[in-house]
Amino acid sequence: MRIDVVTLFPEFVRQCAEIGVVGRAQRRGLLQVATWNPRDFATDAHRTVDGRPCGGGPGMVMRIEPLRTALAAMRQADPAPAHVIYLSPQGARLTQGRVAALAGMPRIALLCGRYEGVDERLLAHEVDEELSIGDYVLSGGELAAAVLIDAVGRLQEGALNDAQSATQDSFTDGLLDCPHYAKPLHDPYGDVPAVLQGGDHAAIRRWRLKQSLGRTWLRRPDLLSQCVLDEESRALLDE
Ligand code: ADE
Repeated sequence: MRIDVVTLFPEFVRQCAEIGVVGRAQRRGLLQVATWNPRDFATDAHRTVDGRPCGGGPGMVMRIEPLRTALAAMRQADPAPAHVIYLSPQGARLTQGRVAALAGMPRIALLCGRYEGVDERLLAHEVDEELSIGDYVLSGGELAAAVLIDAVGRLQEGALNDAQSATQDSFTDGLLDCPHYAKPLHDPYGDVPAVLQGGDHAAIRRWRLKQSLGRTWLRRPDLLSQCVLDEESRALLDE
């Protein structure tokens, strides 16, 4: 998969994409992240990328031209179609379901806004989807882009070493994840639950499912109404 990022802070985005699982996915050739700085495409002496908002008001707005040229350069470098996403607090809330769908696309492009945002005409002509990572305001789209790259990158086939760990993530089945423990079994902070110390795998699966259900009920009851348990989980609870 290829991810192009249009950003005034390309070093930040590249560094985020070089660490951990996503960095490894890039080194394994499963993911390519490329950045495009609109400032490199500004044509005036000061390399201006923003302007005062028409009609007045605070802050500055990212202008059409440097962004249009950056996107054109991106398409010239690789003409394969890209699904263009603008990251902003006005977008639809990003979910694990949407992450999984985006992870299956061959190419996405992320447009990061700064200042008050981006000229609406550029968005209307160039953007396929607007996404928010949560109901709070960041000072730019770069952190949101890094979040999306991480969430999508780790789902690339072969990115995770333990193939099971993506399917066991929180939200994959609509539930929060269960608690996890490592050795030592006994510690001043407590003991590892007895069921995890034994080898009864069905009992362990049942315990984990119940923990997930309990945590979701306590912490995110809103998720429960949308969660549909698969056959195996229902059978486990019936036992
Ligand atoms: N840019 C600024 N705030 C944002 C948010 N919450 N999500 C995505 N992009 C943003």
